[in-house]
Amino acid sequence: MNKDFKIAIIGSGTMGNGIAHVSAQSGFQTTLVDLNDEQLNNAFSVISSNLDRQIKKNIISLVEKEQILNNITLTTDISDCKNIDLVIEAIPEKYDLKVSLFKELDSICKKETIFASNTSSISISDLGNQTNRPSNIIGMHFMNPVPIMKLVEVINTIHTSNDTTNQIIQLAKVMGKTPVQCNDYPGFVSNRILMPMINEAIFCLEQNVAEKEAIDEIMKLGMSHPMGPLQLADFIGLDVCLDIMEVLWIGFNDSKYRPCTLLKTMVSSGLLGKKSGRGFYKYD
Ligand code: NAI
Repeated sequence: MNKDFKIAIIGSGTMGNGIAHVSAQSGFQTTLVDLNDEQLNNAFSVISSNLDRQIKKNIISLVEKEQILNNITLTTDISDCKNIDLVIEAIPEKYDLKVSLFKELDSICKKETIFASNTSSISISDLGNQTNRPSNIIGMHFMNPVPIMKLVEVINTIHTSNDTTNQIIQLAKVMGKTPVQCNDYPGFVSNRILMPMINEAIFCLEQNVAEKEAIDEIMKLGMSHPMGPLQLADFIGLDVCLDIMEVLWIGFNDSKYRPCTLLKTMVSSGLLGKKSGRGFYKYD
């Protein structure tokens, strides 16, 4: 894939800074957009310290780190996406927020620009239908932590063109990832299976079936999961987990997807997991 291909990532939080990291490391000019400088500077220092970790592991050199950081441009001005070839949206899992962003981008970007959403569960078809370019709309669902996890779930809608899909598959491979395709449906494949499991683990905790450590240990040792579901929920962000459960619940209209009350209470109390310093566990 041509390294002149320009990529913008909208949202520089947990996922956005990881996607910017792999995009810049793959040699692409990468524009990282967020609402304010504080968030952007924070994202840049997260990327920098994750690159330091790669230096320690002899994956990259100090010179390469500087080159990677030089590939990243930070901006709060969405109109800087005017000449971008691919926009990857990684803003919070809120339908209205994403719709208004897609509409705005549609009026800013050239007509060939592909819009990919990193959404965990929101309908890619709905987002595409808000634009005048439904054939250029696709899901590009990276996993957390992005620099480490290999999977990219590529989500096609009825309108996504073969050319769009092929470009995204090729790009994911250039980024060192393994793209796997599926069709647009609530939660796609990954979160339709993962989130009900996490939600059920929270029900177990709420109903005092076991201590949190025991729930995680049982799933780690018994199912060979590298991380227990409660620890994983902290890592993903409890707000993100709740948002996804709500999309599943509304999307399927089936009570088996109702979010656990404990999850809702924790989110409304600001206990969002690792990013807020406390979720099921405490973090420095
Ligand atoms: P986050 O809350 O960590 O970051 C979101 C960022 O978007 C924040 O920095 C916020 O300031 C920014 N933002 C909000 N509105 C914006 C706008 N209009 N323009 C520019 N920036 C804006 O969220 P996170 O966890 O990175 O999630 C982002 C997306 O990725 C969500 O759709 C989520 O479902 C999905 N996702 C999350 C995963 C996770 O493990 N956290 C895994 C895979 C997908």
